[in-house]
Amino acid sequence: MDVAIIGAGSRGVNVYGSILYSIPGVKISAICDISQTKLEEASKLFKVPPKMQFLSEDEFFEAGVLADGLIITSQDRLHYRHCTRAIDAGYKKILLEKPVSDDINETQEINDLAKNKGVDILVCHVLRYSAFYGTIHELIKSKKIGELIAINHEENIGYWHFAHSYVRGNWRNIKDSHPLLYAKTCHDFDLLFWFANSKVKNAKSYGSLTYFKPQNAPAGSTERCLDGCPHLDSCAYSVKNLYFDNKSPLSWGLYHATGINHPSQAERYNALKKNDNPYGRCVFKCDNDADDHRSVAIEFENGTTATLTVTAYSKDCHRRIHVVGTHGEILGDDSKNYLIVNIFGEKKSSLFKRKTNKVKIRALGAGHLGGDLGICRAFVKLIKGQHIDPDYLTTIDVTLEGHKIIARAMESD
Ligand SMILES: NC(=O)c1ccc[n+]([C@@H]2O[C@H](COP(=O)([O-])OP(=O)(O)OC[C@H]3O[C@@H](n4cnc5c(N)ncnc54)[C@H](O)[C@@H]3O)[C@@H](O)[C@H]2O)c1
Repeated sequence: MDVAIIGAGSRGVNVYGSILYSIPGVKISAICDISQTKLEEASKLFKVPPKMQFLSEDEFFEAGVLADGLIITSQDRLHYRHCTRAIDAGYKKILLEKPVSDDINETQEINDLAKNKGVDILVCHVLRYSAFYGTIHELIKSKKIGELIAINHEENIGYWHFAHSYVRGNWRNIKDSHPLLYAKTCHDFDLLFWFANSKVKNAKSYGSLTYFKPQNAPAGSTERCLDGCPHLDSCAYSVKNLYFDNKSPLSWGLYHATGINHPSQAERYNALKKNDNPYGRCVFKCDNDADDHRSVAIEFENGTTATLTVTAYSKDCHRRIHVVGTHGEILGDDSKNYLIVNIFGEKKSSLFKRKTNKVKIRALGAGHLGGDLGICRAFVKLIKGQHIDPDYLTTIDVTLEGHKIIARAMESD
């Protein structure tokens, strides 16, 4: 089975490309990226012959169908164009990175095109493929907690992750990326739509960029951390604390920040000192407009309600969820390998005939709690035409409903 990739960056190569390449019988047959370096590195890694390496998307799409499946892992603003071009070129199985678009008409158009032309598109809402969220879904569906009433969901991005991606990095402004609810929280709307099992009726949202602004810069701070800033040691967001400390949770961001795989301390310093490197800037002096907090209230057509709060301000990157039903509740924190399930009125939990109210998660797994691997396996099955429970697939029609919640919420603010 052949798979092609357009956008040979972090997701395309390090995640989906590498996972698929490790599955027996799967070959990466063609790659397109506008960066010569990325194209060469990825082609070498996946043994892609020169005639199947493309620096131009025009040449790539004009070459017709080059594989059984196409992975679209270019940046946010290119997804709509690359996906419509892929459908026109004749691809029938597409793995498309999220978000599809922040214009709901474009997402609808891709959904309609896919339907009319018999194209299967899986959108990379990877959390749906994780055991953690799959268990919550099964518990709700089995009605162990009675009829679903409401969900309270929290996405804690982590102050370091937020500074890297949404203040200094690729998702810092709407012009080049998408509003935060699309760029980051679209995964959570997919989960809420899945759990509620109903289309959105109303959604309202409030939020803004509050902290990462010039007026909050500490006195005497410089434009770039390594230009002699007196707060280099004390500022939680300084490049010293985020990129030089080997215990920093941002090890995965070092390639973005330096352009080098596993950079030494000296290579980090040289890269971040360069004036044109956006990752070397003071977090209070960037060209960012991404909200650092936003809360959304949702009413679904079936009467279920949900609230969601996403913020930059947490030590760790994790999500918390509280699902309530007429007979019980589920409490989860996805950094833990269990859920708490309380069935009302029960002194000893009869859940699954165990004495505890803890439900163990089969395996948390690496890469979005195992979701990265899960979606790759689903994509392979989709290409092979094997049966998969549609309830566990993030097809474009399903994504359209999640994106509609965001569109409704954004309209209200
Ligand atoms: N599903 C998830 O959990 C998840 C997690 C992180 C990122 N993402 C999404 O994945 C996408 C890619 O993110 P990334 O971190 O891999 O970014 P990246 O910048 O590492 O990779 C994007 C690649 O696209 C290439 N590119 C740019 N223009 C192109 C064009 N016209 N034709 C071909 N290639 C082009 C770039 O050179 C780059 O190599 C983004 O949309 C992001 O929002 C999803």
